[in-house]
Amino acid sequence: MRVLVTGGAGYIGSHTVLALLEAGREVGREVAHADGQKTGQTERQAAEPHEITIVDSFVNSSPAVLARLAELSGCEIKFHEFDLTDYQKTLELFQAEPFDAVIHFAGLKAVGESVEKPDLYYHNNIASALSVINAMLKTGVNKLVFSSSATVYGEHTPVPYKEDSGYHLEATNPYGQTKVIIERILNDAANANPGWKVALLRYFNPVGAHESGHIGEDPLGIPNNLMPYVAQVATGRREQLTVHGDDYDTKDGTGERDYLHVSDLAQGHVKALDHLEHQQEPARAYNLGTGQATSVLEMVEAFRRASGQAIPFTVGPRRAGDLATAYADPTRAATELGWRAEKTVDEMCADTWRWQSQNPKGYTP
Ligand code: NAD
Ligand code: UD1
Repeated sequence: MRVLVTGGAGYIGSHTVLALLEAGREVGREVAHADGQKTGQTERQAAEPHEITIVDSFVNSSPAVLARLAELSGCEIKFHEFDLTDYQKTLELFQAEPFDAVIHFAGLKAVGESVEKPDLYYHNNIASALSVINAMLKTGVNKLVFSSSATVYGEHTPVPYKEDSGYHLEATNPYGQTKVIIERILNDAANANPGWKVALLRYFNPVGAHESGHIGEDPLGIPNNLMPYVAQVATGRREQLTVHGDDYDTKDGTGERDYLHVSDLAQGHVKALDHLEHQQEPARAYNLGTGQATSVLEMVEAFRRASGQAIPFTVGPRRAGDLATAYADPTRAATELGWRAEKTVDEMCADTWRWQSQNPKGYTP
């Protein structure tokens, strides 16, 4: 398939680009004996090779990612740098390249910043989604995979979250609201346009890095999220972690989340894309999580084991807007997409550590 990956230079997008290229490479791969000698047989053709085009504005990523993707994949990846809120440029790209499908990652994602600058978040996230949708309508592209978030379940949905836990999606901050609104726009667009197929992927907490250690998460400034913060404490870049509250009604009093390896998440996109043509509903939501809840203290201990480094921490007050426990019921993704998260918390920590220790300043040389 010819796939446009918006935001493909970002954390999840870059891992997904590799997974898509890898899925394509498996087609017709020659089967070898254990000693490396060819058997003359080829593996069953499991997937079509994908041709990838990335669009990114680098508002939250580095151009250095592109060279690493080319190196890791051995493939040429087409790239265009522009802001997707520019509808004209978006349309020109769709008119110049005949895409079969789009994976739309591009968006701003910092919860705290979205509370301070809601106009920026509503404009960037919603205008770029509308550019993509309108360009698809104009050029007859009708398959889309969208990066949604577990944040759409809001504060009142009981755990484990199920996709249809009441369709009263809500979110507690402007970032989350953009996901709720875009899900609604996509539902309406898919229902109004025969042949449209949209997968709304609700991610839980993606962590980890590619096993090579060459690509990973590289947040700008002080990380807000647990795993990149812990990783920077382990390298000595930050002094200590602040645990946001230890008086929750959880196994050890600290917040529990459903962490999943970014490479498993990337594989979820490959499966969702393959499944689109078989999807019955015009738009369908899928949870991508493990179904397991891990506490902050369990994560800190797992990272200490994986890195061999001390992770000093202090306990602070609860963070505004935080929930005690959030985790997925991942049954639908398993039964309908044939996807399951496979990697353990220890693997997530080991791969984050490999990336962080080999690239202590991320993509900055
Ligand atoms: P990221 O910031 O690393 O990647 C997003 C990419 O989109 C960046 O490269 C950024 O430069 C680009 N971008 C943003 N606005 C753009 C625009 N207007 N035009 C062109 N490019 C633009 O974030 P990520 O962690 O890879 O997340 C990808 C998607 O998944 C986002 O939509 C995010 O909201 C969603 N998501 C992420 C998480 C998470 O924990 N990382 C959880 C749930 C959902
Ligand atoms: C946060 C966002 C969520 C977003 C997700 C992925 C909030 C309230 N929620 O989710 O909308 O979709 O990131 O980007 O910001 N923790 C600490 N110390 C830290 C950092 C985190 O104790 O320095 C704790 C948190 O309190 C939480 C857990 O670690 O219990 C995970 O936090 P985080 O990684 O920020 O993810 P979420 O809060 O799940």
